[in-house]
Amino acid sequence: MSSSSQPWTPTSWRARPLAQSPTWPDPHHLERVERELATKPPLVFAGEARRLQEHLGQVARGEAFLLQAGDCAESFHDASADAIRDKLKVILQMAVALTYASGVPVIKIGRIAGQFAKPRTDAFEERDGVRLEAFRGHIVNDDAFDEAARRPNPDRLLAAYHQSVATLNLLRAFTTGGFAALSRVHAWNQEFVATSLEGKRYEVIADEIERALRFMRACGIDLHDDSALQGVDFYTSHEALILPYEQALTRRDSLTGDWYDCSAHFLWVGDRTRQIDGAHVTFLSGVSNPLGLKVGPSTTVDELRRLVETLNPANTPGRLTLITRMGHERATDLLTPLVSALNSEGRLEVWACDPMHGNTFVTQKGHKTRRFDDVLSETAQFFRVHQEIGTWPGGLHVELTGDDVTECLGGGSRLDESDLEQNYTTICDPRLNATQSLDMAFHVAEYLQRLSRSSRLAHD
Ligand code: PEP
Ligand code: CO
Repeated sequence: MSSSSQPWTPTSWRARPLAQSPTWPDPHHLERVERELATKPPLVFAGEARRLQEHLGQVARGEAFLLQAGDCAESFHDASADAIRDKLKVILQMAVALTYASGVPVIKIGRIAGQFAKPRTDAFEERDGVRLEAFRGHIVNDDAFDEAARRPNPDRLLAAYHQSVATLNLLRAFTTGGFAALSRVHAWNQEFVATSLEGKRYEVIADEIERALRFMRACGIDLHDDSALQGVDFYTSHEALILPYEQALTRRDSLTGDWYDCSAHFLWVGDRTRQIDGAHVTFLSGVSNPLGLKVGPSTTVDELRRLVETLNPANTPGRLTLITRMGHERATDLLTPLVSALNSEGRLEVWACDPMHGNTFVTQKGHKTRRFDDVLSETAQFFRVHQEIGTWPGGLHVELTGDDVTECLGGGSRLDESDLEQNYTTICDPRLNATQSLDMAFHVAEYLQRLSRSSRLAHD
């Protein structure tokens, strides 16, 4: 609940400072769109959000692992079925490797079906002496560098809603219609291992999974018939940045009377909008969805304490996921005091590692990129810090695509700066391509295997 004495309502945020908001040219136009959105069906149901919170509660207790992944920003120009399928495919492949290595369920959440809004460090962008409003994601304006394209247009809120509906519809079909069957996902991983240089390293894990599947078959489990192995739970998430949109899709659950933001199962607060008395924290404090909070390098122990108390006042496991994004250079130093403090106070938040947002830089030719090795280094530090403190490194949060893009450097595919031009298609931050994503997942699988070995030793 918000820190004021007034009871929370879906409009409480309007009395608070609103960071990162576009300046909408015509407020009446925005109001018309908000009214229209408020009449639309919800994208997700409260019961689904509650189920996700239960799964995340398992993560908080060290009984499951979270994989949250997808685009930095979804695009209105690219919502093809193939693109959605390939993104889902790579996330499912990663999840199988992580499940096997961790020995616990992997909870899968996409940055998808609503991830359209971007916070910006600079409100303006200048090119060759021309200064225009920054691109804030397709829910606000267009990425083309001209004045009309950059003007915020409220009709985009409706377009974002409709694209989210279509995306979610396809995801629901893919995850229940046989596409996500375990034996099929495993076959894709075998293909990655057999056909790529980077895949070779993971032959051992892939063979172990193959043996486990053979064992299950021998025990009489029909991999093609067992419903638990045919479909998967797949949840949606995005940064709750454009609050008029989030408010319009917030509904009271008829079963419990609680408010849910029905634009996605899971919503997070960005590192730039996590002011304790700000509009975004105030809004999310009152919805009952499971929440995320980005925790960047400037976060103090005191700030974090106040944020967890505001966003998770009852210390409910699964209610709040702390997504740390410190950068590889200082990750250990910055993470240690935060994790230690919350752990010693008995907090039950999930800890997840976003090794992407603290490791972005711009090349001389002007490409925003990230080094695979830096991403991996921050992830490894995350695991080490949690192991030392005795907390569960609960999850991984990454920006990826199923396409064969050239946006991040290194990884198995050994991309260098001269490769970036080949297929650089992101409209915002650089994403891992399919190969780099699998490479990453198998690395994390190794960390998880090491962790479970050392905890078994500790228990012997
Ligand atoms: C993001 O996740 O796309 C993002 C902008 O992250 P952060 O708020 O951590 O910078
Ligand atoms: Co990003």
